[in-house]
Amino acid sequence: MFLGIDIGTSAVKVICTDGVVIHGSATADLTLQSPHSGWSEQDPHAWWSAVRSALVDLSRNVTLADVTAVGLSGQMHGAVLLDRQRQVLRPAILWNDSRSTDACARLQTKLPEIGTIAGVLPLPGFTAPKLIWVAQEEPAVQARIAHLLLPKDYVGLCLHGELATDRSDAAGTLWLDQAARDWSRAVAEASETRPEWLPRLADGHEVVGQITASAAAQTGLPAGIPVVAGGGDAATGAVSLGATEAGRGFISLGTSGQLFVAGDAYHPNPAKFVHAFAHTVPDRWYQMAAMLNGARPIAWLAGQLGISAGEVVALAESADAGRVPIFLPYLTGERSPHGDPHIRAGFFGLEDSTPRAALCRAVIEAVAFTFADAVDSFGGTVADLPHLAAIGGGSKSPFLLQMIADVTGQRIGRTVGSDAGPAMGAARLAACGIGALSLTDLGQQPEIADWFDPAPSPELDHRLRRYRALYQALKTLD
Ligand code: XUL
Repeated sequence: MFLGIDIGTSAVKVICTDGVVIHGSATADLTLQSPHSGWSEQDPHAWWSAVRSALVDLSRNVTLADVTAVGLSGQMHGAVLLDRQRQVLRPAILWNDSRSTDACARLQTKLPEIGTIAGVLPLPGFTAPKLIWVAQEEPAVQARIAHLLLPKDYVGLCLHGELATDRSDAAGTLWLDQAARDWSRAVAEASETRPEWLPRLADGHEVVGQITASAAAQTGLPAGIPVVAGGGDAATGAVSLGATEAGRGFISLGTSGQLFVAGDAYHPNPAKFVHAFAHTVPDRWYQMAAMLNGARPIAWLAGQLGISAGEVVALAESADAGRVPIFLPYLTGERSPHGDPHIRAGFFGLEDSTPRAALCRAVIEAVAFTFADAVDSFGGTVADLPHLAAIGGGSKSPFLLQMIADVTGQRIGRTVGSDAGPAMGAARLAACGIGALSLTDLGQQPEIADWFDPAPSPELDHRLRRYRALYQALKTLD
């Protein structure tokens, strides 16, 4: 049995699988801290304690002693700073944190070719600019840095005691030379980062350590079983869908949103903030539009209205489509395709009589519109794909998937267990690490259970044009 652990932003998810069927899963919630506008932080110790509590839950349905290998997946780009004793120096600065906006401009000026080396232009979500911010704002912390890790790799350190990452998570730091699939000394030097702080690089299926006696005692996992490097959540989501082979694409509807297309060569296209990153498996790269707000606005509105995300979707379905405001979903700024850390969310077109259902529908539409923008930013290449698979919590809603099909003009397919994507991908990498699956096997695509075929909707297209015009009109406001 293989264990996949996904360090998400709103929860840690663990699943146990034989590589095909999920035998058990559990989650443990996480909270975000935002002490200042634009800041987004989590305490790495909270990830480790959430992993332990999710494993306690999982152990009610599966025997953890039967686990033979572990794979990791996690939110990308977060900066975990450790001292010489491998102790956490400050809360991790996350992928949706925008404090290092000025540092990005400086990095771009210092190293104009960074977009070609790193596969994307500097934006504050990525890891390297965060280190420039730390050097400037927290020099006492910077003076003590001895090691840098990404979120899932901190959990890896707790499990096996090694300092390692995989190439797909390294890809999201800006420090990786994507073509060479190795750390770029030039980017490290331009971003106040000593190359010796960076962890060892591995492919996602490579074993990087074994469960230590201490981790075994804390988790119930067998001591000595191998842990593979795993991948960033985009890449592990891909592995769950067989998107390790060129020309396979999917959308992910989690706290963030992604449009992902796998390829067998490195094709940087930084202008539209399309990310060209190394995949977690050898000799593969991918292109990705990464939307910071993904399906998160649904959970946000649910929180504001005191109802569940499912109730937001149900209300949206019942809304009178003729009198729905436009919602701009940029709660934490936006990465693809705008590269705009300053923009913020808002409703436009509210009337005195606007009901809650109309607000819900506006938010669901906005989530769909971000995918229309993402498909556009790829400049036509997505239109050639046979279909896009859908994963993540938002993929549970047929209403949302149909709307995404309609506004993107793409056929969308949903697999059974689509919401378990990244954790499942991590478990499959673990299976590959001990030879139970080959790299070719990772390309097997799960069966699609539900299809969503695009239907033309002039009304929705009109609303999409208004949505885009609204962003253009607002983007220069201070
Ligand atoms: C990808 C991205 C998000 C995070 C959190 O570029 O920022 O997917 O990994 O899910």
